[in-house]
Amino acid sequence: MSAPVIAIDGPSASGKGTVAQRVAERLGFHYLESGALYRLVALASLREGIAAEDETHLAALAAGLDATFVDGRKLISGQDVTDALTDEACANRASVVAQRPAVRAALLARQRGFRKAPGLVADGRDMGTIVFPDAALKVFLTARVAVRAQRRYNQLKQKGIDANIATLSRDLDERDRRDAARAVAPLAPAPDALQLDSSDLSIGEVVALILAWYRDRTQRGSV
Ligand code: DC
Repeated sequence: MSAPVIAIDGPSASGKGTVAQRVAERLGFHYLESGALYRLVALASLREGIAAEDETHLAALAAGLDATFVDGRKLISGQDVTDALTDEACANRASVVAQRPAVRAALLARQRGFRKAPGLVADGRDMGTIVFPDAALKVFLTARVAVRAQRRYNQLKQKGIDANIATLSRDLDERDRRDAARAVAPLAPAPDALQLDSSDLSIGEVVALILAWYRDRTQRGSV
């Protein structure tokens, strides 16, 4: 039997990453931040001067990417690029390259490779719909755009990066529209996903809810 998966999807800065990581820690599960793979392809394409429209080269880049994840750090060919990945320019490019079907196809097997015992928590846009359609629990995590822009602003400030809330809010909105409008694997809740608006909840409350939902499924024997 395959290891159980908890899929947490949602728009940019909805808190998926932090929540997914904590749920994984609590359960002793592995963790996949799928957005980091798209960001890695985006960063490598910017560095290698590959155009955002050049699907063939982008897909080759995605297929051959020497990416590793070590203790929350992300490496390309052994070089730590974690900080460069949090850049808004990188996030915007990631949303553009993620529209390309060949790029998504090239990353599919790599993402499924993270599924190992005792289980996996995966966050992204299409974890519940495309990558792990048989996930034991699917959560679609949202938050109002103003709340998400504020959270991203705090995150960047904490890292000493200068940011502007109005610009962040506009960029988030633009990325969400592009992610939701694309033809392949758009940002959308799976029909069997539980929707959770985190706007007025703390991280701890969101984590506790998801753990309770998961416990409920395991107790009912559906995992
Ligand atoms: O989760 P994130 O903000 O790091 O993701 C960056 C971009 O990558 C996002 O705008 C869309 C794309 N992405 C995707 O298309 N599918 C995923 N499963 C994860 C991210």
